[in-house]
Amino acid sequence: HLGPITELPITNGWVSPDGFERMAVLPNNQFPGPIIAGYKGDNFQINVHDQLTNGTMNKTTTIHWHGIFQHTTNWADGPAFVTQCPIAPGNSFLYDFTVPDQAGTFWYHSHESLQYCDGLRGPFIVYDPDDPHKSLYDVDDDSTVITLADWYHVPGIQVTIPAVSDSVLINGLGRAANDNSSPLSVITVKQGLRYRFRLISMSCDPFFNFTIDSHTMTVIEADGVNTQALPDLDSIQIFSSQRYSFVLEADQPIDNYWIRAAPEPLAGFGQSDPPTGLAILRYEGAPAIEPNASIDDTPSSTNPLAEVNLHPLTNPEAPGGVGPADVYLNLNFSFTNPKFYVNNFSFTPPTVPVLLQILSGAYTAQELMPEGSVYTLPPNKVIQISMPGGVVGVRHPLHLHGHAFSVLRSAGDGTSELNYVNPVQRDTVNIGLLGDNVTIRFETNNPGPWFLHCHIDFHLNAGFAVVMAEDTYDTPRVDYPPPAWDELCPTFDKLPVSD
Ligand code: C2O
Repeated sequence: HLGPITELPITNGWVSPDGFERMAVLPNNQFPGPIIAGYKGDNFQINVHDQLTNGTMNKTTTIHWHGIFQHTTNWADGPAFVTQCPIAPGNSFLYDFTVPDQAGTFWYHSHESLQYCDGLRGPFIVYDPDDPHKSLYDVDDDSTVITLADWYHVPGIQVTIPAVSDSVLINGLGRAANDNSSPLSVITVKQGLRYRFRLISMSCDPFFNFTIDSHTMTVIEADGVNTQALPDLDSIQIFSSQRYSFVLEADQPIDNYWIRAAPEPLAGFGQSDPPTGLAILRYEGAPAIEPNASIDDTPSSTNPLAEVNLHPLTNPEAPGGVGPADVYLNLNFSFTNPKFYVNNFSFTPPTVPVLLQILSGAYTAQELMPEGSVYTLPPNKVIQISMPGGVVGVRHPLHLHGHAFSVLRSAGDGTSELNYVNPVQRDTVNIGLLGDNVTIRFETNNPGPWFLHCHIDFHLNAGFAVVMAEDTYDTPRVDYPPPAWDELCPTFDKLPVSD
């Protein structure tokens, strides 16, 4: 894998992860994208070189480090037209940021158009030299990363929604319908050992029900935040961009077992279900064959992961405790073909990135995006946002950049009570279906414009997004100056700086 200081060329290349060959967008000429890893406290300097040639999948690019707070380096966050201009073909862009106070499981992906669906996605792991889990759970091995991805035989922009993927890839391999022979990923374990597995959904659209035949899982991390151990889980529903770490005990007979990622069922949308993603958990000493169990058996789940049962390992209280928040925002979502709307506005990327407008002296929501897609937030306040579920009958995963938020009310927990005491903290939350009203809180301690959007990439591309412009007056940091305009936006003329 790649270390914290690295060159990262982005190219087009042919891949056939499920037996079907197509052109893709490749970080470091690899598919799936290589793991980028470092330690808490590291300075990451990732020099991205745009060497793209295929216009259908975008010749320009940007990269977002999903879940990293980017405190003092909002400019390195990555979303095109929010914090920077897209990197032009033949150009390079240096993402230079430190990760002082986070450790856990993250990922990186293109944040322009639908480009990550075409392959520009990979794990981003921050190890903790003082990992409490090592002592708490005594894991023997912390090297396994499991990525889940939906895969299409056409470029993302040619996919119609609801998207029916041709296959589901686990660590970059999978099988399309009626294929029984394409190679699958194998994860090898040694009987008697205890493992930390890091699970990442790099999905563009569906959630997955993740299971490992004959094994249970103990979740210890959600979205880069350590949780109290939640044991004995037999399935994990994981939404686009979410991550979990779980402890797996290799305590079963030496054999081969299916690892399964069943994508969101689509029968309700008049579509057929895409094939389940498969990989093999193989005990050392077992023959190199596939498990005997039928791939068609959907394992029954008696103890699935419920988000409401997840609690932070340390500092569990929500910002503001049981007291009121300082700012309440009620977002409403709607859809009028072909666009999504947040409080009646569909996000269209501005010509000049929001951050550059702020650096040029535009500080109010009205100045920044008269179309109503920017919300300004005052510094050092508790912000509470409620988000009703149900638009187009799909469970939408909402992601906020720059923060982990406390989920005061989860989808489907069947109560109107808000949990202020020990709610899960994460950066992407499923907002559920009609009747749900997922509510989150965070504190504005991180100046900069932060994207808040549905992580179903086809929905983001259809305008399901707003920008939370936090503490605009303190965003132009004199102590941590951002790169010059010409580096953030070589393709645009500088705006006049207003007073
Ligand atoms: Cu995974 Cu806006 O990001």
